[in-house]
Amino acid sequence: MGLWRETLWPRLCHKAMQAERHARYRSASLERARGAILEIGFGSGLNLPYYPQSVTSVVGIEPNPGLRKVAVRTMHEQHFPVTLLDMNAEKLSFHEGEFDCVVSTWTLCSIQNLDQALSEVRRVLKPGGEFIFFEHGLAPDPDLQKWQRRLSRVTKHIFDGCTVDKQIAERIQGAGLDIVSLDNFFIPNVPRSEGYIYAGAARKASTEKSL
Ligand SMILES: C[S@@+](CC[C@H](N)C(=O)[O-])C[C@H]1O[C@@H](n2cnc3c(N)ncnc32)[C@H](O)[C@@H]1O
Repeated sequence: MGLWRETLWPRLCHKAMQAERHARYRSASLERARGAILEIGFGSGLNLPYYPQSVTSVVGIEPNPGLRKVAVRTMHEQHFPVTLLDMNAEKLSFHEGEFDCVVSTWTLCSIQNLDQALSEVRRVLKPGGEFIFFEHGLAPDPDLQKWQRRLSRVTKHIFDGCTVDKQIAERIQGAGLDIVSLDNFFIPNVPRSEGYIYAGAARKASTEKSL
């Protein structure tokens, strides 16, 4: 499992996530990023070239040592400082309200305890800060959902936790974040079971209410 998870899977993941068709989604999602960013599931650092000038720093967290290695090898210099840390989104070692934005692209699918991770995302966001996401997940069609549930039982073991049956928007709202923008669509030329997208942003209220 060590060789697959820490060497072969990171290379495959880097190659697959580099696909040209993903670039415009990364760029469109990150347009609204600003200030101090926390990126969860940093992977091999493929979002870095798409952060706009309004970004002042990026802290990336990535639990897979193989992906951190690829990131360090392939990252280019940016107009902001980048820090890469070994950390799980379920347990963030940051203070409350430390970040202007938290970014997640193709990551929520793989997080084992998603509700805990989203509650951590909310905690580390400044009041009024935004969670920017581009994720694949559960499609609306019940027949397709059946396939997605079956498939996820297998994919989670092969692709380092990746599932395709999470209702992403509901989970984000369940963590007490207010969705301010949401697009749902199928990515063209990708199997429908893997290609249903939730792209948008959710805000932490400016005045905190307790959950
Ligand atoms: C499909 S990759 C996406 C990588 C990157 N976000 C991108 O857009 O290219 C999923 C990522 O989620 C990370 N991940 C899995 N479980 C995680 C967790 N509990 N906390 C943070 N990241 C996690 C994986 O290690 C991997 O980097």
